[in-house]
Amino acid sequence: SAHAHFANPLLRWYGQHRRPLPWRDTTNPYYIWLSEVILQQTRVAQGLPYYQKFVAAYPTVEELAAAPEDEVLRLWQGLGYYSRARNMHHTAQVVVEQYGGKFPDSYTELIKLKGVGSYTAAAIAAFAFQEQVAVLDGNVFRVLARVFGIADDIAAPTSRKVFQKLADELVPAHAPDTYNQAIMEFGAIQCTPVMPDCLFCPLQQSCFAFNHGMVQELPVKSKA
Ligand code: ADE
Repeated sequence: SAHAHFANPLLRWYGQHRRPLPWRDTTNPYYIWLSEVILQQTRVAQGLPYYQKFVAAYPTVEELAAAPEDEVLRLWQGLGYYSRARNMHHTAQVVVEQYGGKFPDSYTELIKLKGVGSYTAAAIAAFAFQEQVAVLDGNVFRVLARVFGIADDIAAPTSRKVFQKLADELVPAHAPDTYNQAIMEFGAIQCTPVMPDCLFCPLQQSCFAFNHGMVQELPVKSKA
């Protein structure tokens, strides 16, 4: 299918460019959730030492849930957006008290957790449980808008459905976890916002934006 011509080159590219990151070597939903909460609005280089600190201090969700809030906030110091740390602590307690310490194992159930939005629910479902669902972050919006020539405003709430539908169709059944890591990594280091490396891009020939000289015009993002 046409979609295989997207996933396969991407997976091959990922095999050659994959950065070894600790949350990529686990299927533990608690660690994956921790990493995604920390990495929201935070770069990998900045988030990595925090991830290591939290895993060391609280190896299980029970230990995070039982920790005093001021201790959690102290470990979070330097990351900013302290509501993220408070929500994380709260959700750990909910997982322990209402789910017996076990994260729910599907997107539909995960999204019911407070502070777990569509992005985080998809990440946990795909990375921990191999659910065939697309993880949509800014990197993924950009890659899809360029390769498939989608001019919908990525800042408009109605655009999400357009992107989510296409993105979900692209996830290969045999590797939802690796594929989702691959497209995020591709957006982070190859199909970058400024000066993407189109010259050495494995998707160059099939990329709408490249073929139409619109790499700088896509994705469309209103300022509002
Ligand atoms: N940023 C957010 N989630 C990430 C992940 N799983 N890997 C690398 N960077 C990320």
